[in-house]
Amino acid sequence: MKKNLKPGTLCVQAGWQPKNGESRVVPIVQSTTFKYDDSDEMAMLFDLKKEGYFYTRLLNPTCDAVAKKIAALEGGIGAMLTSSGQAANFYAVFNICSAGDHFVTSNEIYGGTYNLFGVTLKKLGIECTFVDQEASEEEIQAAFRPNTKLLFGETISNPGCKVLDIEKFARIAHRNGVPLIVDNTFATPINCRPFEWGCDIVTHSTTKYMDGHATQVGGCVVDSGNFDWDSHADKYPGLCTPDESYHGLTYTKTFGKMAYMTKLVAQLMRDLGSAPAPQNSFLLNLGLETLHLRMPQHCRNAQRVAEFLSSDDRVAWVHYSGLESDEYHELAKKYLPNGSCGVLAFGLKGDRDTAVKFMDSLQLVSIVTHVADARTCILHPASHTHRQLSEEQLREAGIAPDLMRLSVGIEDADDIIDDIRQALDKL
Ligand SMILES: Cc1ncc(COP(=O)(O)O)c(C=O)c1O
Repeated sequence: MKKNLKPGTLCVQAGWQPKNGESRVVPIVQSTTFKYDDSDEMAMLFDLKKEGYFYTRLLNPTCDAVAKKIAALEGGIGAMLTSSGQAANFYAVFNICSAGDHFVTSNEIYGGTYNLFGVTLKKLGIECTFVDQEASEEEIQAAFRPNTKLLFGETISNPGCKVLDIEKFARIAHRNGVPLIVDNTFATPINCRPFEWGCDIVTHSTTKYMDGHATQVGGCVVDSGNFDWDSHADKYPGLCTPDESYHGLTYTKTFGKMAYMTKLVAQLMRDLGSAPAPQNSFLLNLGLETLHLRMPQHCRNAQRVAEFLSSDDRVAWVHYSGLESDEYHELAKKYLPNGSCGVLAFGLKGDRDTAVKFMDSLQLVSIVTHVADARTCILHPASHTHRQLSEEQLREAGIAPDLMRLSVGIEDADDIIDDIRQALDKL
């Protein structure tokens, strides 16, 4: 494919270039296995000496085409799809951390990731320190230890809608000889490409805007190929010393820049197996084909809704970085010049019951767990997605008990605003 194609063209065309007579649309290859005439050829695939498909847990043509599209959109050298965003974040971290290791993460992250990092990874012997992403570089630096292996953050936090200073985080990570991993789910590569700001690895819950229609749960890990693992070989033995489970090959020596990606697929996906179904990858691809059209509409609508909410007396506060008054407006101008996303957070004057009454009065806007798809929806994290977190953890994660997360869809903004207005009128 031609180089330097624009994101809109990549959304539509990247990842699948059919050969003469092949299906124009990415085909759904609904097969677990792939046939070879020659046993030696199959052996070469198992030895990673030849590229090709042999078992769908490791690689499947449909999933591979879609992964390549996302890699192209992010400007990465490779990508791997997973069966969920949770799996993507787990794999991205576990690929370079093992028992006895430590990492640093912003505390402004999705509740599921917060649990994964703070509770489940701890059970595997991997500890993390949560930091305030607004803290000074010196304060964040203090969280680093000799066994720290990475720094993590979300471009736009779910549900706080805070914008990460990616360059600051990249500086801190690189000063400590570790990569920066950024979950770019909410911004999508249409609105921000974290690699351009020094991030090394990007993750996604493709369940959200990338799919955009709420039809599949999926995730993705993308590598920029920029982090020099061999320069910090003592920190990353999994990449820089022989892998006994792969005939003693050393990923960095054999695969160079593709070391991280190859280990991710050949070792973690082989052993843990959170592979997406080809059918789901096909649906994800349909969503990706219109991502560049949907994101601007989400942003336009969210801007109008945020302006409406912030001008209404019954609303206590609104967080949307598109508002000039928002504390993240300047960071958003730098990292998200075309708009952030359709998600905003707000609180009503009153108590918890006020929020519940408001939500129950909505007619067009629906109460669903999901976020970031075509239909406008709302959620109260303290009583839904983040209900496992204690009051203290909620506050640490920057979630006010009255916070409602509104995911503005791509309907007509007038209708969304009318629905919110009539629900406010019922209070
Ligand atoms: C920013 C972010 N990362 C990761 C996840 C987890 O993704 P999934 O639900 O696809 O497992 C979510 C889910 O809401 C999310 O918002």
